[in-house]
Amino acid sequence: MSTSRPSVFVTRRIPQLGLDLLAPTIDLEVWPGELPPPYETLVEKSRQVDGLLCLLTDRIDRPLLESAAPRLKVVSQFAVGVDNIDLAAATALGIPVGNTPGVLTETTADFAWALLMAAARRVVEADKLTRRGGWKTWGPQFMLGPDIYGATLGIVGFGRIGQAVARRAGGFGMRILYFDHKRDLEAEKSLGAVWTPLDSLLAEADFVTLHTSLNAGTFHLVGESQFAKMKASAILVNTSRGPVVDQQALYTALSSGQIAYAAIDVTEQEPIPGNDPLLSLDNLVIAPHIASASIQARNKMALMAAENMLAGLRREKLPTCANPAVYA
Ligand code: GLV
Repeated sequence: MSTSRPSVFVTRRIPQLGLDLLAPTIDLEVWPGELPPPYETLVEKSRQVDGLLCLLTDRIDRPLLESAAPRLKVVSQFAVGVDNIDLAAATALGIPVGNTPGVLTETTADFAWALLMAAARRVVEADKLTRRGGWKTWGPQFMLGPDIYGATLGIVGFGRIGQAVARRAGGFGMRILYFDHKRDLEAEKSLGAVWTPLDSLLAEADFVTLHTSLNAGTFHLVGESQFAKMKASAILVNTSRGPVVDQQALYTALSSGQIAYAAIDVTEQEPIPGNDPLLSLDNLVIAPHIASASIQARNKMALMAAENMLAGLRREKLPTCANPAVYA
């Protein structure tokens, strides 16, 4: 093997398409484990490579980046969210960080809808009940849930994914409210969505679905005082990041009947500990952070992460860069 080939550490086995794009010109090491590499291993490996292809389960913090620079030229994340990466540190060290926006938008919106519908119509509860012999007869008042059609949808975070969720809501005849720091007048017009202050959105929505990124401004965006504003019949859907919701407050809201139901793909600690009180609730649907887990999306994410990596190693601008300030 030529020593002039750049070397890259890939922190998990991503879809083969991505690896195949890298393999011809790069010395690749792919972490073989089902679980992420331990932090110490990640630090050690990062010091030995020109590029790091990582996942949202890897903590890419300042000490790691400082110890890997200046050899480390590029970090390419196989995800759109990059809250696990210290972007400010990467920028200060001149390391571009790639991510994979766009290719998982529709996939994630589909899953937000899967959760919303599963919660409203109690699909998971119904499945469990049926398997344990609870289906005694057809009942006029049996397993009731609210209509989705014609209800009010509150979308918090109106970027690519939030808008894709809104597009689907059109087919359900919903009234669409959204909250975002910036208004998107064009999307408002084409989607029939109405910008609404967060407090009013929470008070009016039958379904509240979260699509913000996680940052200092969105940490615990939905907590005790927000649950207090929501309808007792409200359903919360979270496919963004766990810490956007104060999970203790969520437990209280669900167990006290302050809101009716939640459907979440993300939790404050991932995986959620087996003894977390949330797992004891029937009015919660939970999934293991799989909103982008379609075959097509994951293949496209792998290609995109590989393309960012190749560009970074060539010292070219990354096709999708999460810290464009690095080029300023
Ligand atoms: C998944 O959560 C992602 O950020 O891509």
